[in-house]
Amino acid sequence: MSGSPPIGSMPLYTHLDRIERGLAALGIGPADPVRPEQLFPLDQWHYGGTDAVRSAVEHLGLRSSNSVLDVGSGLGGPARFLAYTAGCHVTALELQPELHKIGSDLTARCGLSGRVSHICGDALTYPIADGVFDAVVTWLTIHHIPLRPRLFARLAKALRHGGRCYIEDLYMRAPFSERDLVDVRTVLIGNSVTSLPDFATDLRGNGFVQIDATDLTDATRPFVAARLAAWQKDSDRHIRDLGKNAYDVMENFYVVVAPLFEEGSLGCVRLVASTA
Ligand SMILES: C[S@@+](CC[C@H](N)C(=O)[O-])C[C@H]1O[C@@H](n2cnc3c(N)ncnc32)[C@H](O)[C@@H]1O
Repeated sequence: MSGSPPIGSMPLYTHLDRIERGLAALGIGPADPVRPEQLFPLDQWHYGGTDAVRSAVEHLGLRSSNSVLDVGSGLGGPARFLAYTAGCHVTALELQPELHKIGSDLTARCGLSGRVSHICGDALTYPIADGVFDAVVTWLTIHHIPLRPRLFARLAKALRHGGRCYIEDLYMRAPFSERDLVDVRTVLIGNSVTSLPDFATDLRGNGFVQIDATDLTDATRPFVAARLAAWQKDSDRHIRDLGKNAYDVMENFYVVVAPLFEEGSLGCVRLVASTA
C-alpha cells in the first residue's frame, strides 16, 4: 500500500495548538505544571484511552524496574501513563518534530522527565541500541510505516532476550473497496494496513514467536461511533475552546473513521509477541 500523502497532513496531526487550548480551557497556562491525569483526555491518540495502556501493563507484567520503548509516541500520553502508573522507564520515539517537542514539554511539566526520555526519529532508521529494552509497546503507529518487516526486525533486536512486544493497530478485516482505500491512504495515512495473517507473518518472519492476536474490533467500533457522537454533541464547547477550523478538521476525521469500522473493512488488533 503506497501513494499516501505526507504524514503531517493527517487531521489528527494538524491544529496542534489544540493541546494548549484544551489545557487553557481547564485554566492551565502554557508554562504551568500539569498533572498527567489532566492530560489523559488530550494525549491518548489511540482507541480505548488509558485502558488500552493499562492493558499493556497487565499483558506484559510491567514494573518499575522495566525499560520500555514506545514506538510512535505521539504527544507522549501512553509513555507518561506507563511511567506514572507502573513506574517504568520509557523511551518515547516519535517521528514528527512538532509532536516530539510538545510531548517533551508536557513530560517536563508533569515532572516525569526522569522516567520518560523523548527521542525524535524514524523507527525505521533511528539508531536504537540492541538488547536493552524489556518491552516494546506501540499504539496506532505501525499502519503508518511502509516497511513493516524491517521495523519488526529492528524492534526484535532492541529487545533483551525474552523481551516482549505489545501492539495495538489497524488491520484489513475484509477487502477494502476503492472508496475505503482512498480513505485509508489519504485520511488515515495507512501505508501498511493488511490482513491479520499477513501482520502476524511479518512478526514471525522477523524475530518474534508466541504471537497472540486478539481482535479488538468489537470494542473499537462502538468507541469510534461514541467518539464522533460526543464530539458533535459538544460542538459548541469544542468550537469555543479550540476554534471552528480545528473542530471541523477533527469532525471530518471522525466521520471518515467510524464507517470504516461500521461497515466491517477496517479492524483493530492487539498482538503480543516474544523474541525468539
Ligand atoms: C496515531 S498516533 C499515536 C500516538 C501514540 N502512540 C498514542 O497512542 O497516543 C501515531 C504516531 O506514530 C508516529 N509515527 C509514524 N511513523 C513513525 C515512524 N516511522 N517512526 C516513529 N514514529 C512514527 C506518528 O508521527 C504519530 O505520532
